[in-house]
Amino acid sequence: MNEAIHPSSLIPHPSSSSILEEMMNQKRVTVPAVRAMKREQRIGMLTAYDYPSAKIVDSAGADIILVGDSLGMVVLGYPDTLSVTMEDMLHHTRAVVRGTTHALIVGDMPYLSYHVSVEESVRNAGQFIRAGAQAVKIEGGKPQRIKAIEAILDAEIPVMGHIGLTPQSVNIIGGFKLQGKHADDARRLIDEAVALDQVGCFSIVLECVPTELAAMITQRVSVPTIGIGAGPSCDGQVLVLHDLLGLYDNLAPKFVRKYAEAGKEMRSAIEHFLEDVRNGSFPDASTESFHMSSAEELKRLYGDAVVVPMPKAN
Ligand code: KIV
Repeated sequence: MNEAIHPSSLIPHPSSSSILEEMMNQKRVTVPAVRAMKREQRIGMLTAYDYPSAKIVDSAGADIILVGDSLGMVVLGYPDTLSVTMEDMLHHTRAVVRGTTHALIVGDMPYLSYHVSVEESVRNAGQFIRAGAQAVKIEGGKPQRIKAIEAILDAEIPVMGHIGLTPQSVNIIGGFKLQGKHADDARRLIDEAVALDQVGCFSIVLECVPTELAAMITQRVSVPTIGIGAGPSCDGQVLVLHDLLGLYDNLAPKFVRKYAEAGKEMRSAIEHFLEDVRNGSFPDASTESFHMSSAEELKRLYGDAVVVPMPKAN
């Protein structure tokens, strides 16, 4: 007798590698592709806040771009992230979306956008999706956060978790400090990571926690962990773009590797421009200036008086 064939067995089950292959051919990285990267391929994530920087980060091949609320510090000049509003975040998210075609865009939900009520959290998360992001990130893993995350997921919005040093809790924590150094705090973070995994987060940022703890969490959860100051065992790494490029020096966390001194380069270029303006060498009259088709005609109309004598260069 023929054994019955269940229709689902006719559908090839997508393996991690086929999702990754699909990702290489696909325009935009997807949430399932990020999940499939766990233990297959390290994830490279960066922040970006505006059109030109997003375009550079995207074309360099970042898998995920986070429109982080760190923009409050590195772009808007606040001492922490607590002043950042939904309006700020949506404005910057739209600019980042316009500059990208490849990376998965994650919008960082700012302080008070998911703390007041579950309904408000879902509505705010939805605004990021309408702004063009594919997912949102939420800080913390305590039961109230899990409830909000569950409701956001129920609205078909993927959520990235974030535990350890959660900058929106800076006043409770008492500063930007290492978290989970001692066993009881480490246990709390493991429980939170497991809860975020179980509720359905597609990845979890681990910020400023000991390497051993990050390794243990990475092993225990089914989704990728993305570390920042969490050692090399995470499934991926993220840095704030302005830290990596040397564009922000108000804080210098130990975990930042500066790949460039862009701030110094920019200042030197600007000083050079100002010097050229003042010594009269910018703009060059032939290569950087426009000319009339017939200067003679202008002279005939107005005489030599139109030629304004410039001060002599020093
Ligand atoms: O806002 C941000 O940039 C972040 C990263 C540091 C993960 O949350």
